[in-house]
Amino acid sequence: MKPPPLKKKIQTTLLRWFNKNKRDLPWRKTHDPYSIWVSEIMLQQTQVATVIPYYQKFLNSFPTIRHLAKAELSKVLKVWEGLGYYSRARNLHRASQICLNHFHGKIPDNLEDLLSLPGIGRSTAGAILSFAFNKEAPILDGNAKRVLSRLFAVPGNSGERKTEQFLWEISESLIPKGYANPFNQALMDLGALICTPKDPQCYKCPLCNLCKAKASGKPEKFPSRSVKKKIPHIRAVCAVIQKDGKVLLKNRPPKGLLGGLWEFPNWKIEGKQRSRLRLSLRNYIRKQIGMNVEVKNSIGTFKQAYSHFKITLQVFKCQFLNKKGKGKWVPIKELIQLPMSRIHRKIAERIKVIT
Ligand code: ADE
Repeated sequence: MKPPPLKKKIQTTLLRWFNKNKRDLPWRKTHDPYSIWVSEIMLQQTQVATVIPYYQKFLNSFPTIRHLAKAELSKVLKVWEGLGYYSRARNLHRASQICLNHFHGKIPDNLEDLLSLPGIGRSTAGAILSFAFNKEAPILDGNAKRVLSRLFAVPGNSGERKTEQFLWEISESLIPKGYANPFNQALMDLGALICTPKDPQCYKCPLCNLCKAKASGKPEKFPSRSVKKKIPHIRAVCAVIQKDGKVLLKNRPPKGLLGGLWEFPNWKIEGKQRSRLRLSLRNYIRKQIGMNVEVKNSIGTFKQAYSHFKITLQVFKCQFLNKKGKGKWVPIKELIQLPMSRIHRKIAERIKVIT
């Protein structure tokens, strides 16, 4: 591809702006590839302010790649609890073991090996290569994508392959020799601080006079987005089954949504079942867990929104009657030690109060 016009001007203007306006972020105080890798994984789909305390806690708990690789997955998930998108933690854990076994305990410093690790895509690899090793690798995270789409008024939907490919070429061609690290960070900061999704503050932007989207009069229209699908709403019943100060928990299968986390048994309800929640719950527990219970009073209704659906759980206290069933009996006082999703943690906190 031809280098974009005004390349030098864009580079120097953005670097100068970054020098004066950069955010003071903990992962910018280190060149340790492991710490940078942890930060980049946490920053996928998550805001900086949310990540900071988790980043610090994670590195205190697992200070090196070896500590992480040798830790139990449930300990890693526990430290990750509340940050969401738990496959990131599972991938980070697995990738650390691969590094230990195949890369002499180090994070690889080349694109091919980085891309072979679970959880590392091209943009995360570009961030690690440029921030930890100062290699001239491009990034295209959400912020960079938005800034570049606007600067060059890139047509098409940024989710499309062709558009995405074009944006990668722009990102790569703009990197100033020897300055990939600050340049990539500058793209991220401009996107986070000024060139924001809904309300770009062009009057503050150092690239304002060079920006084609600004010249079009409607900068917020770039990148064009596909229409958002309505997300499904799942309703489910959930049981807090009690026996001698303990409650019954299930462990989610290790792969898939919230994999490896612990939760109170729950089942989707549909149609007619909605008017007979207690009866449905008792039948589910008998069939799926192999246990007889008496369904008692409601503990409450709990809601959670995820990226692809939202869920409402109607939770009931249940008294164990007989038959062993499947699951783990956990003393209420020890619930805090197990990794749980946000909604099940809320239920656990509620029962601590009411029992
Ligand atoms: N988003 C993704 N990576 C980031 C980083 N290193 N700093 C700030 N925001 C980011």
